[in-house]
Amino acid sequence: MPTEQSAIESVLNETRRFPPPAPGEVGAARWLIDSADAYRAMYERSLADPDGFFEEVTADLHWFRPWERAVEFKAPDAKWFLGGKTNLCYNCLDRHVENDRGNEVALVWEGEPIQPNGQPEIVTYTYRELLREVCKFANVLKKLGVRKGDVVTIYMGMVPELAIACLACARIGAVHSVIFGGFSSQAIVDRVVDADSRVIVTCDGAWRRGHVVPLKENVDAAVNELQASGGAGAGSLLRDQQIDYVVYLKRTRNQIVWHADRDYAWRDLMVMADEWCPCEELDSEDDAFILYTSGSTGKPKGIRHTVGGYMVHTYLTSKYVFNLIPGLATPKRPDPLPDGQLFWCTADVGWITGHSYIIYGILAARVPSLMYEGAPNFPAEDRFWAMVERHKVTQFYTAPTAIRAFMKWGQEHVEKHDLSSLQVLGTVGEPINPEAWMWYREFIGRGVCPIVDTWWQTETGGHMLTTLPGVHDTKPGSCGVPFFGVDAAICDEQGNEISGGGGLLAIRKPWPSILRGVWGDRDRFVSTYWTKFNVDGALDNGDGVSPYYFPGDGAHRDPDGYFWILGRVDDVINVSGHRLGTMEVESALVSHPSVVEAAVVGMPHEIKGTGIAAFCTLEPNEMPKDAAGMDRLRAALTAHVAEQIGAIAKPDQIRFTDALPKTRSGKIMRRLLRDVAAGVQQIKQDTTTLEDFTVLARLHESKES
Ligand code: PRX
Repeated sequence: MPTEQSAIESVLNETRRFPPPAPGEVGAARWLIDSADAYRAMYERSLADPDGFFEEVTADLHWFRPWERAVEFKAPDAKWFLGGKTNLCYNCLDRHVENDRGNEVALVWEGEPIQPNGQPEIVTYTYRELLREVCKFANVLKKLGVRKGDVVTIYMGMVPELAIACLACARIGAVHSVIFGGFSSQAIVDRVVDADSRVIVTCDGAWRRGHVVPLKENVDAAVNELQASGGAGAGSLLRDQQIDYVVYLKRTRNQIVWHADRDYAWRDLMVMADEWCPCEELDSEDDAFILYTSGSTGKPKGIRHTVGGYMVHTYLTSKYVFNLIPGLATPKRPDPLPDGQLFWCTADVGWITGHSYIIYGILAARVPSLMYEGAPNFPAEDRFWAMVERHKVTQFYTAPTAIRAFMKWGQEHVEKHDLSSLQVLGTVGEPINPEAWMWYREFIGRGVCPIVDTWWQTETGGHMLTTLPGVHDTKPGSCGVPFFGVDAAICDEQGNEISGGGGLLAIRKPWPSILRGVWGDRDRFVSTYWTKFNVDGALDNGDGVSPYYFPGDGAHRDPDGYFWILGRVDDVINVSGHRLGTMEVESALVSHPSVVEAAVVGMPHEIKGTGIAAFCTLEPNEMPKDAAGMDRLRAALTAHVAEQIGAIAKPDQIRFTDALPKTRSGKIMRRLLRDVAAGVQQIKQDTTTLEDFTVLARLHESKES
């Protein structure tokens, strides 16, 4: 039996199910798809006749030149909407303005700080206003020499200008690479070098829980490091990388250091910019953006998405999964959305969820998108619910880790607010435990709103497995069934479908927003995603490429055809719904002078779902003599990891040990460490290959006090 499968055991025995409510029960005008038969017919057609299906369902989207063929696939390379010319920005903005919807609200933004009047700052943009700002920034980028295909790095807080910067890139065919504002300057260096990016767009700082995150300072540190290594010559990892321009938006007004040779204030450039910028007619297969994500090796990979397929899939999933129905033209301020829908995704644009469901898919579907700058518990734990009430949010999309935090904070924060505007709830990022699911349904969804549990990845661009709110029964903990165009199955390593029990999740056909590659690393693209399933001996013949896509997750499928995700089967962990490679954290730890070797594994965590446990062996004279010394070293290592990667990678538990459990061939036995980290006293696993049994006993004793 393949090793992964033995590790995948389904422990859930969840039998509750909830039928979809009538639309009126949740205040929806109607369900766009309202029967299992309609879903099935569309689903079957999407696989059997992609040309016909996609032509019909994307009739709203604009193509400068219509595509001729939906898909062409020779593993691992997929092309979609061949021959088509289009533009993401055009479909998110210009199209609505041209259809006389320019005065409708496109984006509602709420800042984190509470102003002296007791209210937060709220800014709305209509499609016309957003288009004007986007055109101006597109002209700014052009002035800085940015051309089609160039990579623009964006490292900003959650401000409207972040969306504007992304859309401006999309407009001119530049490739954006958004870096999450929680990442460190070292993460910026790595990504800028990998993408060969010469322009960075940032902010002076970002508001987070009442504090300022010094974004510009982090960018400066990154640029300084790049410059310092510029003269390092051949062999330097940094390849003489040059940052030509840093554009910074003043948001938090914290003190920054200004560098005359490269720094430009956003507003100074914008006042001089023309208000119109033509839209680049892009090929469907031109690059739209890259987004770095962790893998099972130390270096994050730049996932490539292209224009046409990404646009179609994010548009379709936004529309059908969240039941988005564009309203009548809504008068603008002061009450911009009297009866229309307002969609709120609480993710950061630094992750794929924010790309697809704050910006592109939602704007393309012509329902206003709410963007929030800060933390869920600022100034108090009811911030999100106050916002739902204030803005009359109709669709709410968040992560299980947030839901668990809300549960812990208590329902009294929820009960203070009127959440009756909510129609559909969504979750994403990690498996949701049924208890959190039920709490979400009861306390946020008033016991009636359907929950869509959407399984997908940075690599998939948009939802892959989900229920549809007006169609499917929901089951706590299951992410449901495949979306249109998605051929998902549970397979063994030969690619045979497994009917009962756990196995590997496989996607057997390309879908429109499938990743097109890993930026600059073809081998990694192939080896990570296309060498798992030996379908008909594909791996042993010819180019050794599998016809099935391997997402890296284990899953099982119940007799109703519902998928249940069991978690990652590689060395990637999902911390608070954010993917982290254990190797990345290990590399950060061993780059500290005290650490010789480190092994990092996931461990159960009440809020984060999975926490980070680190086992470190130390330099001979570095083992602290007492508990206080250990605490000091733990604090130093934690800070070091935050500096190397970002705060999200901080270990929750660090244990010091004189040896790690290894096989005779020297491989660290991570599965044993997982048990140790989880506090399992009686290790039941097979330890016959363990080299030194006493190591395990000593590890158990090494728990921090
Ligand atoms: O393990 C799955 C988990 O998150 C991984 C993808 O992480 P990332 O690329 O950062 O994207 C997260 C947002 C789309 C997947 O391989 N995952 C994502 N959604 C779910 C999930 N696990 C269970 N249920 C989900 N709904």
